[in-house]
Amino acid sequence: MELPYAEPYKIKVVEPLYRSTREEREKWIREARYNLFNLRSEQVFIDLLTDSGTGAMSHYQWSEVMLGDESYAGSSSFFKLKATVEELLGMPYFLPTHQGRAAENVLFSALIKSGDIVPGNSHFDTTKGHIEYRKARAVDCTIDEASNTAESHPFKGNIDLEKLEDVFKKHPREKIPMCIITVTCNTSGGQPVSMENIREVSALCKKYGIMPLFDAARFAENAYFIKIREKGYENANIREIVKEMFSYVDGATMSSKKDAIVNIGGFVALRDKEIFDKASVFNIMYEGYLTYGGLAGRDLGAMAQGLKEGTDFHYLESRIGQVAYLGELLQNYNVPIQVPTGGHAVFVDAKKFLPNVPKEEYQAQTLAIELYLEGGVRGVEIGTLLADRCPKTRENRYPRLELLRLAIPRRTYTNNHMEYVATSLANIWQRREKINRGLRIVSEKPIMRHFTVELEKIK
Ligand code: F0G
Repeated sequence: MELPYAEPYKIKVVEPLYRSTREEREKWIREARYNLFNLRSEQVFIDLLTDSGTGAMSHYQWSEVMLGDESYAGSSSFFKLKATVEELLGMPYFLPTHQGRAAENVLFSALIKSGDIVPGNSHFDTTKGHIEYRKARAVDCTIDEASNTAESHPFKGNIDLEKLEDVFKKHPREKIPMCIITVTCNTSGGQPVSMENIREVSALCKKYGIMPLFDAARFAENAYFIKIREKGYENANIREIVKEMFSYVDGATMSSKKDAIVNIGGFVALRDKEIFDKASVFNIMYEGYLTYGGLAGRDLGAMAQGLKEGTDFHYLESRIGQVAYLGELLQNYNVPIQVPTGGHAVFVDAKKFLPNVPKEEYQAQTLAIELYLEGGVRGVEIGTLLADRCPKTRENRYPRLELLRLAIPRRTYTNNHMEYVATSLANIWQRREKINRGLRIVSEKPIMRHFTVELEKIK
């Protein structure tokens, strides 16, 4: 018999979970004002809110924690990390930051000014937030296939070259400080960008004198998809693919809480010394001295080790395989999801799941609340709440996709947990016809409202 698949690791430390009752959850979610961010973690059985900083570190990473050098300047942990970034990504200049959005803050402070245009593939919300905060505009140039959840396309994170060139033609070069390629593209479903697309976007950028950059949070997951889906890369190893990917860009912002499998950390990586010098000033101002950037030495060491583990094929096969497994279970129950499944999460199509709930009543958030009540499972809305209001008109922006994201932390849950999640959603699917009212906003903040918004149920 052919041997079945099994994870390439075993579990050394466990964290007990509490299984609550539906009655308890009804009370807790009311108290949380129907915002899942307001729940205490003990009130959650399976937490798929995010894959960011929630993974399990290996014992090699924990030993790096012990080896951490806590010197203010010139820490050996910094040099270990800098060497790893240079070796893996081929980027000679490097600034550590406390997480991904801090890297955005540092780099954008050096490069983006009021009135600028920043094209890319569905910028992540903090990225867009940092662009809009500087009174610049993010333009989404993702291919149209990405907004059809049922259409299978191997690289739904790709940038539409015509849309991108349109932006380049419409605006003067000085107004476009960069083009951001998000690998994988979180907002459109953890969907990868092909090497061919990266290469072509890079060439187009160079033609117009614009700097291509990565939002690299899930670069290794992107490389895995290139290996298994793109012709010509079947036999390349992940690290070769990563090197080639980065060879087409001039720099990157990184949230290490994803593919570097650490609980905190990020960085800016750059090819150009001049930009590095400019950004360094902001790093010192916002993050800390250049050799620690808002992190402890131990965090830097764990990150260096995590980058190596995160770019290992067998690890990626297990990680992305688990995401695909949840996707298959849901498809077996006919639950509408974004296909193919992405790298870090399964995205449930809430428009199709709850068609009787009006879009003004936040379909994806309504589904997220139902899932919590059903099984104590916490997902996150990637829809109208996240899309926020138009900065000019203050009207709700209704995105093309209204999704419930089930993000899987790395090396944390077992496939039994995945079965529990799938069954919880299947139970809601069976009674979906009866769900016809959603939620209304009671209070919200002017920017990034989804973190703190307070809602109530419409009776
Ligand atoms: N870019 C992408 C593509 C992201 O997914 C995130 C974070 C960031 C940048 C910001 O990084 O959190 O370290 O400051 N995404 C998390 C998520 C929060 O749940 O998807 P950060």
